[in-house]
Amino acid sequence: MRVIILDSAKDVAQFAANTIIDTVNRKMRPTLGLATGSTPIEAYRAAIDAYKANRVSFAQTVTFNLDEYIGIKEEHIQSYRYFMNQHFFSHIDIPLSNTFLPSAASLNEAQLHKNAHQYEEAIKKAGGIDLQLLGIGENGHIGFNEPTSSLRSRTRIKSLSESTIEANKRFFKNGEYQPRLALTMGIETILESRQLLLLATGSKKANAVKDMVEGPLTAMCPASALQLHQDATIVIDSEAADKLVMKDYYLWCEQQRQDLE
Ligand code: F6R
Repeated sequence: MRVIILDSAKDVAQFAANTIIDTVNRKMRPTLGLATGSTPIEAYRAAIDAYKANRVSFAQTVTFNLDEYIGIKEEHIQSYRYFMNQHFFSHIDIPLSNTFLPSAASLNEAQLHKNAHQYEEAIKKAGGIDLQLLGIGENGHIGFNEPTSSLRSRTRIKSLSESTIEANKRFFKNGEYQPRLALTMGIETILESRQLLLLATGSKKANAVKDMVEGPLTAMCPASALQLHQDATIVIDSEAADKLVMKDYYLWCEQQRQDLE
């Protein structure tokens, strides 16, 4: 696991955008795994700027998002489809037909199982994911794989934990319906991506970051599964790095890497 500690959330966003751009420019038909939430918004903005400056084209890119709320239609302002169109897709040259999120509008359980299976098949058919972007919940979740999720899980229905519902309340107006179920890629689905890039900023994420990087591999911190991946990079700002016991070592490693380069 590579741990990169940067000064600010802005630096984290720029690093993430550069990694996305490198992947897209290196591949003939790049496949990106994408995340929603507050953390990646600035990274998407920086990638949009790069597109506008002709540093990258997304015309051949295929994307798969981690998750989608169950029971909310795509055009609903709270859907993750809406979020992705608003914060990223509608500003770049990606054909919308190349952008996928789990299909979760139905409230029929059998249909949702079928959609989850089809999502896995679609990822496989696209040749797997080259770069998966991730955020981390305050409780250590990745995607909507809440604590106690199986480390071998695949795309499926997941009940959101109380702490996730509480943390995401900020996106909903007073009295507005807030979903409690999601279709999410599983932990094993995520681990099959060829490269993982997890972003975390702010002091609220410091405990989860510590558990992910320095804690035991445990379903109680789903993000600790990244310890099993051969190409996982964690990019965090100094506030999110605050609880790391081996912080100096990670900074030292990055210094060595830069010297080598
Ligand atoms: C969203 C997702 C979640 C978020 C996490 C952090 O697609 O997969 O795991 O990455 O809840 O959210 P923010 O960035 O809002 O703190």
